[in-house]
Amino acid sequence: MCGIVGFIGHGNVQEVLVNGLEKLEYRGYDSAGIYVAEEKGKGHLFKEVGRIAALKEIVDFELPATVGVGHTRWATHGAASQQNAHPHQSSSTRFSLVHNGVIENYQQLQAEYLSDVVLSSETDTEIVVALIEYFLVTEGLTTKDAFKRTLEVIEGSYALGLVDVENPTVLYAAKNKSPLLIGRGEGFNVIASDAMATIDVTSEYVEIKDKELITLTQDAVIIENFAGETVERSSYVAEIDASDLDKGAYPFYMLKEVDEQPAVLRRLLQNYQGDDQQFAFEADMMKTLLASDRVYIVACGTSYNAGWIGRSLFEKLAKIPTEVHLASEFAYDLPLLSEKPFFVFLTQSGETADSRQALVKVNELNYPSLTITNVKGSTLSREASFTLLLHAGPEIAVASTKAYTAQITLMAMLADALRAAKGFEASFDMERELSLVASIMESILAEKAEIKAWIDANLMETRNAFYIGRTLDYYVSMEAALKLKEISYIQTEAFAAGELKHGTIALIEEGTPVIALVSEETVGAHTRGNVEEVKARGANTIVISMQDVAREGDTFVIPKVETALSPLVMVVVTQLLAYYTALGRGLDVDKPRNLAKSVTVE
Ligand code: F6R
Repeated sequence: MCGIVGFIGHGNVQEVLVNGLEKLEYRGYDSAGIYVAEEKGKGHLFKEVGRIAALKEIVDFELPATVGVGHTRWATHGAASQQNAHPHQSSSTRFSLVHNGVIENYQQLQAEYLSDVVLSSETDTEIVVALIEYFLVTEGLTTKDAFKRTLEVIEGSYALGLVDVENPTVLYAAKNKSPLLIGRGEGFNVIASDAMATIDVTSEYVEIKDKELITLTQDAVIIENFAGETVERSSYVAEIDASDLDKGAYPFYMLKEVDEQPAVLRRLLQNYQGDDQQFAFEADMMKTLLASDRVYIVACGTSYNAGWIGRSLFEKLAKIPTEVHLASEFAYDLPLLSEKPFFVFLTQSGETADSRQALVKVNELNYPSLTITNVKGSTLSREASFTLLLHAGPEIAVASTKAYTAQITLMAMLADALRAAKGFEASFDMERELSLVASIMESILAEKAEIKAWIDANLMETRNAFYIGRTLDYYVSMEAALKLKEISYIQTEAFAAGELKHGTIALIEEGTPVIALVSEETVGAHTRGNVEEVKARGANTIVISMQDVAREGDTFVIPKVETALSPLVMVVVTQLLAYYTALGRGLDVDKPRNLAKSVTVE
C-alpha cells in the first residue's frame, strides 16, 4: 500500500517521479504528491487529493530539479486530504519525506521528543520527519546521522525516501518490512516500491534489506548497516517487459488480465514442463514436501480463495492432508501443528504484510516453506525456503484474476508431480486436461456479449446478491463473491448451498439475485434443490453449470473439463459477471474505492 519513488541526478526529475507514481497508483490512489529540489535551499512541494492525474495538473515540469521524492497514498493514519498527503516536511521545511508503512510507536515518540513541535497533519509519517529535524538540532548530528538515529527509535513497517534541501546532491532511503528497491542509471539513481515504476528509465536494480541506510548521489549508491559498515551488493536485471504495463486497446486492465488467462496457463505448462511427461519442480523442494506429513496453505483474499482449491488438489491427487489458513489470523493464533508441517504461502504480490508476518513466525519455528508468487525477488519469495513463480505477467487491476487461475494451475501441476512421486496412478492426464482448460477459457471469453446482456437485465439495480455452491463450487463462489463485491459494491456473499436453510435464507427477498454454480452431478443435484428453495421465496436465480450436468434453463453452460479443474473455468464466467456489473454501474473497475493492490500493512 502506498507507492514511493525517488530520483537523483540528470534527467527530468518531475517527469520520472510522476510517471513512476502513475505506475504505482495500483498501490493506493486517494492522494499524491512530489517534492523536488533544484539547488541548496530551493525546493518545491506539490500535493493533491485524488488520483495522479490531479497531481499532474499542478506540477511544474519546467523546474530544473536534481533530486526529488514522490508518493501515492492509501490512507492509514488520517483521512485522504491534502494535509495528510505525502511528502511530509519538518517544521523548518528543510526535510521532506515519503513513507509507505505504519509507524507503530509514533504517539509515544511524539510525546517523548516532539511535545513542542506543531504538526500539520494526522499522519505517523510527519512524526518521522519531525524527529529527523529534532535529532539534527538537539544532538548536533549530520543529516545522515539524524536519519539513522530516527531509524533506531521508530518501530513498525516503513519504506522511506528523504530529501534535505540544504544538500540536494543526496537522496536518503531505508526500509523495514515494506518493499523498496534501488535502481541504477547512467548519471542518476532512483528508489521505488516496485521496479515497474522506473522500468522505463532503468532495468538494473539493487535489493535493499531491512534496517539498512541508503545514501544515493547521482553517481554512487552506498548501502550501510546500522553499525555503519558498508555492504556490497550486486545488482540484477528486472525482467519486466514495459509493454506488459500497457493496457493497449482495453478499457481496463482487469479485462485485459481476464483475457490473458489462457495464455498464462499455457506459459505455466511450458515453464514447468519436464522430461517424460512429468512436471518438473526443484528436487530439494519435492523431497521436503514428500517428507512432510501436512501442508498448511496460508494466504489472504483471492489467494486464500485459491488456497481452498489447492487443498482439494493436494488431498485428492497427492493424498497429503492440507489445511488452509487466513494469514492475518494464522500468525497470532497458530493451529496445533503436525510433526512435519510444510507451509505454502500463496501471494500474487509476494509483499502482503499479513502473509509475511505468518512467514516470519514459520521461519522462527524453523519449518520449511514455499512461496507461490507472481513477483520474482519479492519479500515472501526471498524469505521462504522455496519459490515457485506464476509467470502471469504484471497484474495491475486491483481485483486479482489471472493470479488466481495461475495459482490453481500451479498447484494442480505440483499436486500431480507429488502424486507421481508417491507412485499413485493418475486418474486423468493433467497436462492434456490443463491444455483443454485453456481452450475452454477461450471459448468462455468469446461469450462476453451474452454475459453482459444477462447482467444488464439482472444485476444493475440490486443492493445484494448471493453465490451458492457445494465443495469446489462453494470455493469458487467465495472468489466470485469477493470479485463482485469489491468492484461493483454490491453486497455479495458466498454460501455453501446446504447452509442457506440454516439461517441465511431469511435474507432472500423478492428479486434477490442468487447465482448457483453446478459443476458436478452428486453435489450439484443438492445445489439445484437449494436453488428451488430460494426461488420459492422470490429469488432471481441463475445457474452456471458444466455441460455434462447441465439442465434445460441453465443460464450459462460451460464445456466439460475434469471436475478437479472445474474452478479454472467456472471462475472465468464470474470474473466477467463482476467486470460488466462494475462497468455498467459506471465505476472505475481497476481502482475500486477504499482498496489498493499489494497490501503492505497488517
Ligand atoms: C482481491 C485481491 C486481494 C488479494 C489479497 C492478497 O481481488 O486481489 O484479495 O488477493 O490482498 O494479495 P496477495 O496475493 O498479493 O498476497
